[in-house]
Amino acid sequence: MEYRELGATGVMIPEVGLGTWKYRGGPEPLRRGIELGANLIDTAEMYRTEDAVGQAVRGIRERVFVATKVLGSNLRYDQVLRAAENSLRQLDDSVIDLYQVHWPSHSVPIAETMRAMETLADRGMVRYIGVSNFSVAELREAQGAMSKYPIVCNQVLYNLKRRGIERDLIPYCRENGITVMAYTPLADGSLAARPRLSSRMGKAGRGWEILDAVALEAGRTPAQAALNWCLWREPVVVIPKTNSVARTEENCGASGWRLTPEQVARLEAAFPV
Ligand SMILES: NC(=O)c1ccc[n+]([C@@H]2O[C@H](COP(=O)([O-])OP(=O)(O)OC[C@H]3O[C@@H](n4cnc5c(N)ncnc54)[C@H](OP(=O)(O)O)[C@@H]3O)[C@@H](O)[C@H]2O)c1
Repeated sequence: MEYRELGATGVMIPEVGLGTWKYRGGPEPLRRGIELGANLIDTAEMYRTEDAVGQAVRGIRERVFVATKVLGSNLRYDQVLRAAENSLRQLDDSVIDLYQVHWPSHSVPIAETMRAMETLADRGMVRYIGVSNFSVAELREAQGAMSKYPIVCNQVLYNLKRRGIERDLIPYCRENGITVMAYTPLADGSLAARPRLSSRMGKAGRGWEILDAVALEAGRTPAQAALNWCLWREPVVVIPKTNSVARTEENCGASGWRLTPEQVARLEAAFPV
């Protein structure tokens, strides 16, 4: 497993972490991932998997970086504080490594939410502050509302089929020392699934054929090639979710090597922005 710096914190996180939305795998897949170096687990108040994460890291907590999120409908100052306390209870823990605002709010001023995030960091309940689904403008506003702590991470949708953030968000994050944590990096499994019936899928089918061909050439699986492609642009890390130990092993194998520039170019021509 290779690691990237979280924001400009000096803390190293794995390129491939472990997502837990709709996670039903029990402790084993997460523990296997941690064993393979994927010691970043992403959960959220919304997912109702914080307790499963807490159970999976019991006894090995100091080796794991735990990220969770406050729900987009809980962004008033007091609500954020209560939500963090509740997440800590669910996780059976005393500190959240990365606490993220799940979605920007259209009704609660961002300054109020970020003030609560700073209070949590002041109290030692949260180590680092992040956001999720924030545009460049929203990131700027959120950062401008905080005086003591940086935003170290923005968790956003990114995969071969959804490349919109390459235009402005990735360059902005790179220039400002903010990690891009790519969610749904396998396009909900569709970049890994079989059979693909590609001949019947027209232009999209051609993309999958090329993903298969590039993966074969690289001696990797399509899931590994699709995840590795996400890592091509710094400062991206990926957090695929799987309930299975075997797929966890497969996904962890997306790190530790690189597609060639020519393979990346072929994939990008096949899955245009
Ligand atoms: N911040 C946000 O708003 C937000 C939104 C969505 C997701 N997320 C985070 O990002 C994580 C990942 O995103 P996601 O769960 O939406 O989608 P994903 O990781 O792109 O895909 C998950 C799906 O792919 C399957 N899969 C995983 N590895 C596979 C492999 N090697 N081969 C074949 N199938 C495979 C899984 O099935 P099995 O489990 O059956 O293996 C599951 O159905 C989430 O779990 C969550 O932590 C955040």
